[in-house]
Amino acid sequence: MSTAPLVAVPAAAAAVPRHVAIIMDGNGRWAKQRHLPRFAGHKAGVDAVRRVTRAARALGIEALTLYAFSSENWRRPEEEVADLMGLLRIFIRGDIDELVRENVRLRVIGDHSRLAPDLVAMVDAAVARTAANTGPILAIALNYGAQAELAAAARRLAERLAPHEIDEAAIEAELDTRDLPPLDLLIRTSGEHRLSNFLLWQAAYAELLFVDTLWPDFDAEALGAAVAAFGRRQRRYGGL
Ligand code: FPP
Repeated sequence: MSTAPLVAVPAAAAAVPRHVAIIMDGNGRWAKQRHLPRFAGHKAGVDAVRRVTRAARALGIEALTLYAFSSENWRRPEEEVADLMGLLRIFIRGDIDELVRENVRLRVIGDHSRLAPDLVAMVDAAVARTAANTGPILAIALNYGAQAELAAAARRLAERLAPHEIDEAAIEAELDTRDLPPLDLLIRTSGEHRLSNFLLWQAAYAELLFVDTLWPDFDAEALGAAVAAFGRRQRRYGGL
């Protein structure tokens, strides 16, 4: 006998997070498991960036912020830093046409001052090419550190405002993410349970999700599962 319901019950409208941020961790371990150099893990990580960016668009996520290079990542061996910067160049050069075509608005957050001038020029040109787009935002955090972001915001506000004028809204308006929707969901892959100086202010009321999947294995299905988990969370913002 069929167990199908006699009356079709419409699925409840699933809550889709407007803004998802991801700490893409585990590239090195992914490579190690395969006896490959760390570079291979980062390269596979870029493939995951492409997959997940497309999946986020398909799910209707308005903004996706990816932690590509932290202000602490300069501590890695010179060769690995160069590899990561090289992969970023390849990504920007190779994927910008698709981003333009797909109506994506590219943003880059973080401190540009330490980046190579040619990379900054490339990033600026890519961001400019998508500036007239109206679709989802892809924000790449590059030489980003939340504490430095907050300190810079505080410095700018102190130059302009009296102490009593500095409130939460004034600080928000100075953050690199000021044009993005509020952060709803922050995911970290690879089983580590840390925020590692990523979006510390913005994460105040975000749902946090730590998954064991290594970043190069993260795919559309994993993002869908994360969004479904978000939909099951009850957000109370300090209320009952
Ligand atoms: C963490 O893995 C990952 C990074 C520090 C870099 C993330 C960068 C990419 C995925 C590629 C570039 C991004 C874009 C947007 C093109 P890990 O090396 O710390 O891994 P481990 O903890 O297993 O060693």
